[in-house]
This record gives sequence, C-alpha cells and structure tokens, in this order.
Amino acid sequence: MTEHLTVVEHPLVQHKLTLMREKDTSTKTFRQLLREIAHLLAYEVTRELPMTTKTIDTPLCPMDAPMIEGKKLALISILRAGNGLLDGILDLVPAARVGFVGLYRDPETLQPVKYYFKVPDALEERITIVVDPMLATGNSSAAAIDMLKEAGAKNIRFLCLLAAPEGVARMKEAHPDVPIVTASLDDHLNDHGYIVPGLGDAGDRMYGTK
Ligand code: URA
Repeated sequence: MTEHLTVVEHPLVQHKLTLMREKDTSTKTFRQLLREIAHLLAYEVTRELPMTTKTIDTPLCPMDAPMIEGKKLALISILRAGNGLLDGILDLVPAARVGFVGLYRDPETLQPVKYYFKVPDALEERITIVVDPMLATGNSSAAAIDMLKEAGAKNIRFLCLLAAPEGVARMKEAHPDVPIVTASLDDHLNDHGYIVPGLGDAGDRMYGTK
C-alpha cells in the first residue's frame, strides 16, 4: 500500500457506519454491523497482498491458479475493542494467525503500559494487520506497533473504523511505514479523548458495558 491513509468510501461501509454512530443502536445491532463493516475493510486492507500461482487440476485441465503468497497473515487485536473487528476479518481470512496486545494508560504518566502481549511466531515473515476500531490519540496504537516491531514485525498495516486527525498525525510521525485503512476520518478529539462526531466508547457499545 502506498497511501498512508485510505478512507473506504464504499456506500455499504458508510451506510453501516451511520447506523453504528446512532446513539440508540442496540448492542446486538452494533456488534453485527461492526462485523459486516470488518468484512468490507478487510477486503480493502488485503487488496494488495502479494500473489503467486499454484498448479492445480480443474475437472477439465491443469491450470496455474492464483494464490496468496507467503506465510499466513498475522492479525493483532488491541484489546478489548479490537476483537470486534478481528471477528469480522477472521470470517474472511479464517487461517490467519492471531495475536493480542493489552495496554492500559498509567494514570500518573498517561503513557500506555503493557499488561498482555501474545503474538504469532515468525512475525518478520508475515504481513501483520493491527486492528483497533478507534484511532483516537494514536498513543496506544503507536505503542502497540513499537512492541510488534520489537517482536520482529516489519510489514504492518493498521485497520480502524474511525480515525481522528490527531491519531493519524501521531501514527504518521511514529510509524510512517504503516498504512492506515479506516471507514472515516472524523473531525477532532474532545477534551476526554473521544472522537467527535464518533460513536462513543466502541468497547462499551460492542459489549453492552458502561
Ligand atoms: N475510544 C473509543 O472507544 N471511543 C473514542 O471516541 C475514542 C477512543
């Protein structure tokens, strides 16, 4: 991917996103819509995967048929909201390897601190797709990608549902080599770190918590 930021403007993505943003959308519908949008975003983020061919036999003749080249993809979910996007991507890429990064914000330093990190082996040989629905300040995403690079990942893409300009700028500064795919570049972050207009707290809306 060459662009640092790709906004997927497909009508189905935009329509479903509008339904997700509405404050009265139920948990069940929100979760279903996120899964559906994840399918469409997965299509976009995997668009330029390297291809090879494999010789197969159809019932009629042999052919050199296209296949995705290389090791299985690594999908990395930033807990907990990343899991909603992850489920949808796994519907399309069921053989992908999966990792999880858990971070919390230190109340004193406001810096992200790791509490969980488990990722697939041979990350240096895989294309790694990091998923988190909300790219807000970008601090946790940038920190998660620091950790993945330390673990060997080299070819990384970041997939989110909504991005704030502040988060995109932070990621561009910290990881200019990591393309971002999103359904919307929203207006700004408010004083509490929420994306505006946004959709509220993605994890709470997905899991029905407050
Ligand atoms: N995380 C969320 O869930 N929502 C926001 O608006 C920002 C960060």
